[in-house]
Amino acid sequence: MPLTVNGIGHDAAPRPGQCLRTLLRELGWFGVKKGCDAGDCGACTVLLDGQPVHSCVTPAFRAEGRAVTTIEGLAEAGAMHPMQRQFVAAQGFQCGFCTPGMVLTAASLDQAQLQDLPAAMKGNLCRCTGYRAIEDAVRGVQHIETGVLDSPFGRSVPTPAGPAVVTGQARYTLDMAAPPGGLLHMKLLRSPHAHARILSVDTVAALAVPGVHSVLTAADSPARLFSTARHENPLDDPDDTRVLDDVVRFIGQRVAAVLADSEAAAEAGCKALAVEYEVLPAVFDPEAAMQPGAPLVHGDKGPESRIFDPDRNLVAEVQSAHGDITAGLAAAEMVHHGVYTTQRLQHAALETHAATGWLDDAGCLHLRSSTQTPFLTRRALADLFDLPLDQVRVYCERVGGGFGGKQEMLTEDIVALAVLRTGRPVRLEYTREEQFISAPSRHPMQVAVTLGARRDGTLTAIQLRVVSNAGAYGNHSGGVLHHGCGECIGVYRCPNTRVEGYAVYTHTVPSGAFRGYGLSQTVFAVESAMDELARALRLDPFALRRRNVIGPDEAMHDDVEMGSYGLTECLDLVEAALQRGNGAVPPDETWQVGSGMALAMIHTIPPRGHFAEARIVATTDGGYELTVGTAEFGNGTTTVHAQIAAAVLGTRPASIRIRQSDTALIGHDTGAFGSTGSVVAGQATERAALALRERLLALAAERLGVAPGACRLAGDAVTAGAACIAVAALAEAEGVGRSDGTPRSVAFNVQGFRVAVQPDTGEIRILHSVQAADAGRVINPMQCRGQVEGGAAQAIGAALYEDLRVDDAGRVENRAFRGYHIPAWADLPRTEVLFADTTDRIGPFGAKSMSESPFNPVAPALANAVADAAGIRCRDLPLKPDRVFRALAARG
Ligand code: FES
Ligand code: FES
Repeated sequence: MPLTVNGIGHDAAPRPGQCLRTLLRELGWFGVKKGCDAGDCGACTVLLDGQPVHSCVTPAFRAEGRAVTTIEGLAEAGAMHPMQRQFVAAQGFQCGFCTPGMVLTAASLDQAQLQDLPAAMKGNLCRCTGYRAIEDAVRGVQHIETGVLDSPFGRSVPTPAGPAVVTGQARYTLDMAAPPGGLLHMKLLRSPHAHARILSVDTVAALAVPGVHSVLTAADSPARLFSTARHENPLDDPDDTRVLDDVVRFIGQRVAAVLADSEAAAEAGCKALAVEYEVLPAVFDPEAAMQPGAPLVHGDKGPESRIFDPDRNLVAEVQSAHGDITAGLAAAEMVHHGVYTTQRLQHAALETHAATGWLDDAGCLHLRSSTQTPFLTRRALADLFDLPLDQVRVYCERVGGGFGGKQEMLTEDIVALAVLRTGRPVRLEYTREEQFISAPSRHPMQVAVTLGARRDGTLTAIQLRVVSNAGAYGNHSGGVLHHGCGECIGVYRCPNTRVEGYAVYTHTVPSGAFRGYGLSQTVFAVESAMDELARALRLDPFALRRRNVIGPDEAMHDDVEMGSYGLTECLDLVEAALQRGNGAVPPDETWQVGSGMALAMIHTIPPRGHFAEARIVATTDGGYELTVGTAEFGNGTTTVHAQIAAAVLGTRPASIRIRQSDTALIGHDTGAFGSTGSVVAGQATERAALALRERLLALAAERLGVAPGACRLAGDAVTAGAACIAVAALAEAEGVGRSDGTPRSVAFNVQGFRVAVQPDTGEIRILHSVQAADAGRVINPMQCRGQVEGGAAQAIGAALYEDLRVDDAGRVENRAFRGYHIPAWADLPRTEVLFADTTDRIGPFGAKSMSESPFNPVAPALANAVADAAGIRCRDLPLKPDRVFRALAARG
């Protein structure tokens, strides 16, 4: 079948039923991405005779004799297409996985379509940005600051990856040629039962399928238990998981793996497997699971698994008290009690989990995977398969979004097992459905809040009871529970507090790390309750917060310090913005309008150690090569690291070349989570650059015959009076820096909304969204604004409609984007982003973390605005129109 791709003639032979997307990738056009393979997301967009199509739902044969343009072919004569340049200039991306499709669609729009971008771009989803930066790109707005920046700090320096991202040259997890040795594709057979023992797996028919190479079952799996969660301290999570187990504990759990020459053959092999199950009783509700006699999820586990109480299905428990809660409630002149629930959410990063593994000639196991934690994954694989650490290499180039989901080892373990068993390269790529039914989601929580206060609003008591649904495995559940029970009330000065929390196993899809790490759920409860308390006391919600929040001199606990304090400034900024308004009006006078706010505090670094190492070397071309362990998945840390190193070395960020996310290149790095890329790896970078500067000054002084104190490093040269020596002449000088992630500081976010509620339908329209962030000294305003916007956008979807539904039998109901609604362009308002003017004394150059925290105050602020507008209180998320309508109807 002849076709032309990017002006190059191809003679392809598509397989029956093959889609254009896979054909193009097999021809080496890796700019064609996969987000869903169902026509929902647009990551696979290409131009077919100039018209944008979703290549995943376009049969390959339709391209016969036609011209296909992928992102790689949009540039002409080596010059970027104007739309590509605009995406660079506005930095209209974060992880960049959606960008090829976005650019191609945008480049094909006519003038009429440009007038209605939400409609014209409705086929392209972005999970990271909230679309504002993309809209600016399409409209030709420039945000990056170009030219020589002698002081790069605090400037909107463009990401070094920009040109590669917009031209399709950026390489994500699977954007690589198959390693030599005959690539095997893996498909997983998954459990149809919520709880069952696997009695037998008959592999005869599967092995007879042409192309099938082998089948892996529990009999092939190491007996060793581990956790899919990655943490610096592996004891943080219970060891309750096997690579392949002979007991399945949720619908969708792996049962067996089939390895074949093609994905289709592997899939056919899975269908041919005959599995005999003994179905066991199951429990789906966490309260029921804690009751005596409930089916036990891990009743077979001993103390070595470190499960808090397997006989009560408890992964972890929190019991903490300060002061006297009884006396605090007795002293209250107003007591508010409410029970709030938050739902399961999927991260829905556009790039699904994937890994390719192989053995090199020296027998070293290589894993190229979509991970936020390459070093911790390497350590876990070495432990699991009894391999020396230096015989395992884990790396990634660019990851297509994470949001916490890629802190899990979901593909690497089984790919490693298959590589070690077969000696062949192996690839596993999750489908979008597998993401929904088997990848960890946000913990659903029920939070009972009791607040006691004096008539003037002074809090006398805060009591929480938190029940968190861990699902079938305990990955991250202890950490999420502890974190969720912390800062949500720690932000208030209250003498009497009592918290009990339970993370409970059920026979449902596991929960895991999700942006906010437990706080988004508890902050929803506490901040909604504070709003209810304010209304009961007839106090302004801002005034109630100001009366009770901790101040700049507050004594913190453990290694947490008040490195800077911008909370009251954030409150002032949001209050003023809401008062000022933005001129938006409701659709008509039948809509009811109101406003609401909420706040959140977060520790800037996770507790109990977070480590990073950085090395920077002067190179012969007069620049520098910086190596860091942390991963780039849209969080913008690469740019921040270049800015930090450039600021120390007196050079331009463009002179800093960065290598990252590779266990073979640098010392241990805990990984990219808890927003640590800037504050921990950034601190290591700053220290490495300082060490290199000292070294360069010493070397130059020696060569020039002067004292080091007489030398000055700037503009890629060291000068001492009239004498000068170029950095290029001092190449190979090196500086190494490390950070252990302690002490930690605190960051704050305040969200405000003005909304309109349609009383006849329950529909909510956001008229004004504003968030103030205390990010310390902002290293890169453009990127930091993007992180806040992206967090707010994801949280708006979570507050209004995202809901991973599990039915009464434990089955995930919505398994595709069309059933799990993530915000599209038309769904989102612009969020006005404001920054408090603070400088942190702990973070590098005064900076604080700001990736996950913008999510946390959004849902309660929205619920509080709805309460203000319509006089109804929605204590359960999401705020879908039918739920709001029922509350309106109940109100009468
Ligand atoms: S991958 Fe084609 S639309 Fe999502
Ligand atoms: S930048 Fe759009 S999905 Fe990540």
